[in-house]
Amino acid sequence: MISISDNETYSNLLIFKFKNFEMEYPENIKSILRFSENTGENKELECINTLGKCRYKNIFVLGIGTTEEFNSVKLFKTLGDAILKLKNSLSELDILPTFPNDFNYTIGESLQIALYKYTGIKKVENKIKLQNINIISKYKDSINKGLIIGHSINYSRQLVNMPSNYVTPKYIVQQAENIARSENLDIQILDKYMLKQLGMNCICSVGKGSIHNPRLIIMQYFGNPRDKKILSLIGKGVTFDSGGISLKPSKGMEDMISDMAGAASVLCVMECISKLKPKKNIIALIPVVENMPSGSAYKPGDVIITYSGKTVEVVNTDAEGRLILCDAISYAKELGSTTIIDIATLTGSCANFLGNINIGLLSNSNELAHDIIKCGKNVGENFWRLPNNIEYMNELKSDAADIKNTSTKCGAILGGMFLQSFCEDINFAHIDIAGSAYSSKPSSPYDKGANALPTRTLIEYIMESNK
Ligand code: BES
Ligand code: ZN
Ligand code: ZN
Repeated sequence: MISISDNETYSNLLIFKFKNFEMEYPENIKSILRFSENTGENKELECINTLGKCRYKNIFVLGIGTTEEFNSVKLFKTLGDAILKLKNSLSELDILPTFPNDFNYTIGESLQIALYKYTGIKKVENKIKLQNINIISKYKDSINKGLIIGHSINYSRQLVNMPSNYVTPKYIVQQAENIARSENLDIQILDKYMLKQLGMNCICSVGKGSIHNPRLIIMQYFGNPRDKKILSLIGKGVTFDSGGISLKPSKGMEDMISDMAGAASVLCVMECISKLKPKKNIIALIPVVENMPSGSAYKPGDVIITYSGKTVEVVNTDAEGRLILCDAISYAKELGSTTIIDIATLTGSCANFLGNINIGLLSNSNELAHDIIKCGKNVGENFWRLPNNIEYMNELKSDAADIKNTSTKCGAILGGMFLQSFCEDINFAHIDIAGSAYSSKPSSPYDKGANALPTRTLIEYIMESNK
């Protein structure tokens, strides 16, 4: 339980210390702080046993570096780091943030995110120890807002961490319906038959091999109906990617339960904006499928007529993400989108190239790319722009169809180029999170596992251009 109050509540306290500036603390804490050996170095964490000299048993002093270098990204990571260190050893904690109000939103976000840990599906539940936190502050509203966003981020992480026998296409549809119902969002679900009838043959083809039917989720938020601008967010929702007939090697295949991280991120954005209520128009399109080999599966060599009318030769059934996304992109255009951003665990090539330090970005608009990179910087998520020279399209030439779904080189770029070719004159950005959506090690404030990247950037992008 996290509370926000004026009162000292629990037996442990966490306070912050700058390297070059003394913050104001109440007298009882100040007297203990005299014994502190913390230099204020960023992330330095010191535990002072108060030996009964104050109502707290322990005071934790957390260094946050110099005032010159201080910003919300630093606070986000530093507070998260301390919580990751303490969450398995303490059961209760007061936190006394003494920053200007601008930073309280970040405190809420960082805290909520750092407290999440995926504990699996076990007979005996294995919860983290730190269950009771009280934030001593009068800025209840801003902290609360951060806590709420953090909660949505954790919900998205949970969806990605959970296995694909739970998280099926139908399960994601139910989650979207729950969000739409509670937040009063417009939602439409296109099932297999409607998709077939409309000619969304790519989504249908990728889903053909699975017993779980494919669907397309469409959620709409119109915060400024008079504005002609519409941003569409498209999330790759492959609930399990076996590779299909072009079967993946068994080593590491279990990680492919996270191939719906783009979908989870878009769901999370929709939940957040329905609470933050920006004056913007946003459509979410989430194709959900399972990519499986079977007698009914689509095959290498197949030619599919996409929703746009353009035909695609399937060279590799493991390049399924771009197929389901291209149909969603064409539909987004039809709905009047002026900007389209897709978020997808699209290529192993991007993961190899950028690791989990940068998120891949390909865009046909310098302005859009610039805005995304800037918003990423504001929240501490790094993007690296991939080239999109038109000559790359030569690699996707096909004798059998208008275009083929993959080639042997330039993996991450061609994935993006394939999608860009369905956007023509519309502002488009493709975000490849294959290497960044999931981490085998904690990276503060995130524990290991899914981290919902780049949801915070997208929320910043939507809120920022709203100012
Ligand atoms: N879902 C994978 C990409 C992926 C790989 C995500 C590793 C997360 C971690 C995607 O569908 C895929 O298999 N891509 C292929 C494309 C290739 C066949 C052109 C890849 O990257 O190997
Ligand atoms: Zn995939
Ligand atoms: Zn694949």
